[in-house]
Amino acid sequence: MFTKEQNLIEEKIKSFCKVNDIALAELKWQAIPFAGEWGFATSFFQTAANEAKLGKGNKLPVPQKAQEIANQVAGQIGSVDGISRIEAVKGYLNIYFKTSDYAKRVVDAVLAEKNNFGRGEKKSERVMVEYAQPNTHHSFHIGHARNTILGEVLARLVEFAGYETIRASYPGDLGLGVITVMWIYDKFYKGQEPQGVHERGQWLAKLYTEATALLEKKENETPEETAQREAYDAERREMYKKWDAGDEYVRNLWQVTREWSLEELREILDMLDVKIDVWFYESEVDEPSKLIVEELIQKNIADDERPSGGAVIVKIDEKLGLTKEKYRTNVILRRDGTTLYLTKDLALAKTKFEKHHVDRSIYVVDSRQSLHLQQAFAILKLWGFPQAEKCYHLAYGFVSLPEGAMSSRRGTVVLFKDVYDEAVKRVLSVEAEKSADIPAEEREKIAQQIGLGALVYSMLSVDNNKDIVFDINEALSFDGRTGPYIQNAHVRANSILKKSQVEGQKSNDLRLATFDYELTKHEIDLIEQISQFPQKVNQAAEEYRPLVMAMYAYDLANTFHSFYHAVNVLQSETENIKNARLSLVMAAKQTIANALRLLDIQSPDVM
Ligand code: ARG
Repeated sequence: MFTKEQNLIEEKIKSFCKVNDIALAELKWQAIPFAGEWGFATSFFQTAANEAKLGKGNKLPVPQKAQEIANQVAGQIGSVDGISRIEAVKGYLNIYFKTSDYAKRVVDAVLAEKNNFGRGEKKSERVMVEYAQPNTHHSFHIGHARNTILGEVLARLVEFAGYETIRASYPGDLGLGVITVMWIYDKFYKGQEPQGVHERGQWLAKLYTEATALLEKKENETPEETAQREAYDAERREMYKKWDAGDEYVRNLWQVTREWSLEELREILDMLDVKIDVWFYESEVDEPSKLIVEELIQKNIADDERPSGGAVIVKIDEKLGLTKEKYRTNVILRRDGTTLYLTKDLALAKTKFEKHHVDRSIYVVDSRQSLHLQQAFAILKLWGFPQAEKCYHLAYGFVSLPEGAMSSRRGTVVLFKDVYDEAVKRVLSVEAEKSADIPAEEREKIAQQIGLGALVYSMLSVDNNKDIVFDINEALSFDGRTGPYIQNAHVRANSILKKSQVEGQKSNDLRLATFDYELTKHEIDLIEQISQFPQKVNQAAEEYRPLVMAMYAYDLANTFHSFYHAVNVLQSETENIKNARLSLVMAAKQTIANALRLLDIQSPDVM
């Protein structure tokens, strides 16, 4: 926001150092938090150290030398528009703004840039975020919701920070789990099909649980039961073989049931406002992955032990020259010629790099797959892909309910759709009492925004590596670190603005208002919070940490709520103060909306 002044001053420092032959280090600026005035600062320690290393000048110790340079520089800068004073303290150059100017510029920047306030400059690298990639023939549970929300928010962050961004999904649509569902369907339920996209998807999950019970060895089985179970298992294996061989009937059954899952997935992605650009499927990389095995053997990365009855393996640690065990040795082609999950990931990564020209490749995947992905990244490095260094696993922990952990084998998963429905229902029942004046249809829409906001925020407000115990009552609370609490700040800002319009306040007056008065602590805090948004976007994107934005949104909302309680905007002492504060409220509303949008949460105007 203040790059203009910054650049100007930087230029002056550079030319001063050039003329005086000072080995200036890269200038790093940081904001000075408000203590009577706002400012920004840079230090000269590195420069002083550079000078010492070169054995130049008066041989002062580094801190004194830094102070000396800061002093000289400060004396050279002269007056700069909008800057109230410049000082050299302890090796730092501190530059201060006139408070009223600073406040005005923060607010003006937001109101001018609107939806784009906080957007980073266009970057040259292309980022792919892979997420929303559950296995088919199961239903979308709350853990998948965490994955999808983390991925979408990360995609929004890197995109807004300026990176060209590709959203990719990679559903697992093959393997024993898939065949298990197909087997039981074919055997006992052929021709049946529940109505409704969600019902159909969820039904597959029930079939899976039922099949697992039939196929699992029980304690104290009678001989008949054992025989039955083994016969079922033989049928399942037979079906797997047929699938592998491309048998038309089995492939068709697979296509149909797979589509049921994908349809449910697409519907949920729609609810979450997620638009995937590229769909990869595990089944589609299976064949290509066989080809890369040959390539890896040829390149001497993989060892072919098939002649001696073994598999094709990669001794990752050895090839990387590591002496301690880290990535271990991995099979990439079994003796029977079938590929593994890892093999497919290698083929997938190659496609991402070569076909989609991805520079940074992010994988939003359950933390239990951490070793797997580190192994894949290590092999990509051996393979010579420079992008291997920029592969990143955004890992996340479990989601459970207060009543316990989930298991799709036991059929105790918590479906996202069920939680969503419940959340919306609860919000609606409160709204029906509280906001009876809002038309029913609109109330329904708002309830969806709040219910979903609650759910989404609860998936973002916990560090991705930690497990979540999802408590619906907590998530829906209007107090504390919740989605509705932040949404409510937006609603309150909106209500002030609406009232002011009713009272005939004109936007032109707001634009002309100045902050030339004694700002209250609440205004200062709010201005400061708003001004931090662009750098928070950048930090969250560069560190791949949605949590940074989630915390920021809460802090901003919290600051706004305090302001709202303490400052009676519409009854300000003078017309100018009222208008200045209204423009600040407008800027706050816009910034809250921008932050919420990055968090994939809607900003209702009323609730
Ligand atoms: N489908 C996998 C699962 O549900 C996640 C895929 C992760 N992505 C990857 N490139 N391996 O566990």
